[in-house]
Amino acid sequence: MDILKKIQDHREQEEELKWEGTFSEYLDLLKERPYLAQSAHSRVYNMIKSAGVAEEHDHKRYKFFDEDIYGLDEAMEKLVEEYFHPAARRLDVRKRILLLMGPVSGGKSTLVNLLKRGMEKYTHTDEGAVFAIKGCPMHEDPLHLVPNHLRKDFQEEYGIRIEGSLSPLNTMRVETEYGGRIEDVLVERIFFSEDKRTGIGTFSPSDPKSQDIADLTGSIDFSTIAQYGSESDPRAYRFDGELNKANRGIMEFQEMLKCDEKFLWHLLSLTQEGNFKAGRFALISADELIIAHTNEAEYRSFIANKKNEALHSRMIVMPVPYNLKVSQEERIYEKMIRESDIRDVHIAPHTLRVAAMFTILTRLKESKKASIDVLKKMRLYDGEILEGFSDVDVEELKKEHADEGMSGIDPRYVINRISSTIIKKELTSINALDVLRSLKDGLGSHASISSEDKERYLDFISLARKEYDEIAKKEVQKAFVYSYEESAVTLMDNYLDNVEAYCNKAKLRDPLTGEELNPDERLMRSIEEQIGVSENAKKAFREEILIRISAYARKGKKFDYQSHERLREAIQKKLFADLKDVVKITTSTKTPDEQQLKKINEVVATLIDEHGYNSSSANELLKYVGSLLNR
Ligand SMILES: Nc1ncnc2c1ncn2[C@@H]1O[C@H](COP(=O)(O)OP(=O)(O)OP(=O)(O)O)[C@@H](O)[C@H]1O
Ligand SMILES: [Mg+2]
Repeated sequence: MDILKKIQDHREQEEELKWEGTFSEYLDLLKERPYLAQSAHSRVYNMIKSAGVAEEHDHKRYKFFDEDIYGLDEAMEKLVEEYFHPAARRLDVRKRILLLMGPVSGGKSTLVNLLKRGMEKYTHTDEGAVFAIKGCPMHEDPLHLVPNHLRKDFQEEYGIRIEGSLSPLNTMRVETEYGGRIEDVLVERIFFSEDKRTGIGTFSPSDPKSQDIADLTGSIDFSTIAQYGSESDPRAYRFDGELNKANRGIMEFQEMLKCDEKFLWHLLSLTQEGNFKAGRFALISADELIIAHTNEAEYRSFIANKKNEALHSRMIVMPVPYNLKVSQEERIYEKMIRESDIRDVHIAPHTLRVAAMFTILTRLKESKKASIDVLKKMRLYDGEILEGFSDVDVEELKKEHADEGMSGIDPRYVINRISSTIIKKELTSINALDVLRSLKDGLGSHASISSEDKERYLDFISLARKEYDEIAKKEVQKAFVYSYEESAVTLMDNYLDNVEAYCNKAKLRDPLTGEELNPDERLMRSIEEQIGVSENAKKAFREEILIRISAYARKGKKFDYQSHERLREAIQKKLFADLKDVVKITTSTKTPDEQQLKKINEVVATLIDEHGYNSSSANELLKYVGSLLNR
């Protein structure tokens, strides 16, 4: 019922938004809302901007892309600032074809779809409204009706510059249907829709021998020639090519460089001069944003060919690299799984994260800095704070290799491996080890991996595996500590009290007996030793912590056990060290006694309730960690 109601609401909304009037009434609208006459490029830019822009450390994040594109903030920023924005202001880039260049499955089509769907919605809003000459198959801009010799006056009065001339079809219609009275020509509001072929077009190359230019520019309708008497009567022509239909909006050119050249030249004239040739007519003006995409290999061979120089100089190439952040890659997988038919399979916690680590490692280039190995780089890119590295270092790292993110493993490969494993083995639940194994097995049959890369990738599988081992151990150990957070906080408070007394050369007071006590050196050392703070370095370490606490206090921030990375690690290790034997024995015993069984059940319950496991993945995890600890 709900969905039917929504359909009805939607229909009513559309009905309400409809507008129809004469050209002179349209001009009245423009007096009040001159932005209605904006160009296609400007409308796309305003749509992107209207979703909001966040300023984050010297970068702009355009929220428009948030919903579907993950981890490409910087590429999107470049795209907006270097293409959409200047194009909206009628600068010269508008006259070039926007060519998105990036590796396979890197999100190019997703990006174009986002823009198309966005425009469909945006044209339903007040700011994004589009008006067109009624009954025109190309939904021509009504302002084309203004004769050339009056356009200067028009601009003075309305502040709007008109580009493009009235199409042959509408020129004829003005005469035959309106007796030359431009002011009476009917204008209507249109709403972009790819399905209805309004304002959005898509062209994808097929067999070059059979593909006809008519797909782009329309064709003569032979059945009507008899009626109109001539092939050059525009009424005998069907303006139903993709370029016609996309007028006022967006035209997507898939796999552009696979296309026959003759198609490309049409685009050139369209972008460069704002018009294209169809049938036997004068040039037809069109206003549309042309987005094409291609991969790097095709692009390289395209520019290597001298013959393509002219074409090349009329494109603006924008990179769409792979995402390089582990946590964002995880989101990509989650999204792809949600959209697939394996969405009901239980995926154990950390599974996708570990797969993402592997994938990101294959995409990273080694840093020239000796202090940074790929794992560190991976963490820094993901926004982790590592001691000794600042934001500036991360920016520098990003600048080291211009082509980083243009190669490596693609997200589709990962999802395909996961789903084929699930289906082949009829699994109802899958964990990180299953996935790593499956990724590894698949490398041999991956079409575009050289044997050299394969070696590297196998190393990354082991690296990801090691990361997983650490995660798995921590997870189980945490579940063993009765209320982990609480224990960690208590231990840290205790440590800090002692550190404070030590640094101030003061005594502590026993909360029970009121007796004065010296700082508990053994406790402090037992924690510090976990992270290798030596006897000589302990004083400096303790003082540094106190400084951090007072810095926090000054800023009114609360210092907790997460606030100091190394202290957090020390506390965690200390808690785990105390437990190590219990965990080891409990998880690996084949015949647990009653006590152990109770503990195992408790731990499994914690894993299920608090960490997102199901009973089979929790038990698998315990078994695995047991085997790790006994190695
Ligand atoms: N950065 C990203 N953010 C969100 N999703 C992504 C990203 N990169 C890839 N994907 C997902 O990966 C899949 C493939 O992406 P898409 O089809 O857009 O890539 P493409 O660049 O067009 O690839 P191809 O070269 O194969 O045409 C999609 O499901 C998409 O959602
Ligand atoms: Mg694609």
